[in-house]
Amino acid sequence: MALERTLSIIKPDAVAKNVIGEIYSRFEKAGLKVVAAKMKHLSRQEAEGFYAVHRERPFFAALVDFMASGPVMIQVLEGEGAVLKNRELMGATNPKDAAAGTIRADFADSIDANAVHGSDSLENAAIEIAYFFPATDVYAR
Ligand code: PPS
Repeated sequence: MALERTLSIIKPDAVAKNVIGEIYSRFEKAGLKVVAAKMKHLSRQEAEGFYAVHRERPFFAALVDFMASGPVMIQVLEGEGAVLKNRELMGATNPKDAAAGTIRADFADSIDANAVHGSDSLENAAIEIAYFFPATDVYAR
């Protein structure tokens, strides 16, 4: 498997629940390294830009409002097969469908407030990482 980087966001609901450390611990136990990180309260404009690909979907406005409702923790994770590994740790989009022991099963309340975001492909990971981090703020470890 190749060494990859992926973008992860701990969403406002999980930040409010004070589980940043618990989620980071899952990344680390799975062999993913945090190579960039920042806490940020997204503006509606920043959230709209990040989710622009979903602009036509019925939940777009609700998703943007939620992501701009409080601070998020944004990180770049690095490791073997990092994109898929992070998606596996996250669990299904709807926490009702998420496998036991996944982040969403343990910390998410609903599909609207589902605790974490993770890039869904290597191609999107590169785009999403560049959206939040200049290359000089991502550290080889
Ligand atoms: S995914 O995870 O990208 O495959 O899921 P997808 O269904 O394509 O959803 C894209 C993002 O929209 C969020 N989402 C929703 N938000 C609010 N309400 C509803 N009903 C809803 N359905 C999906 C979903 O969590 C994805 O956001 P991210 O941040 O990528 O998880």
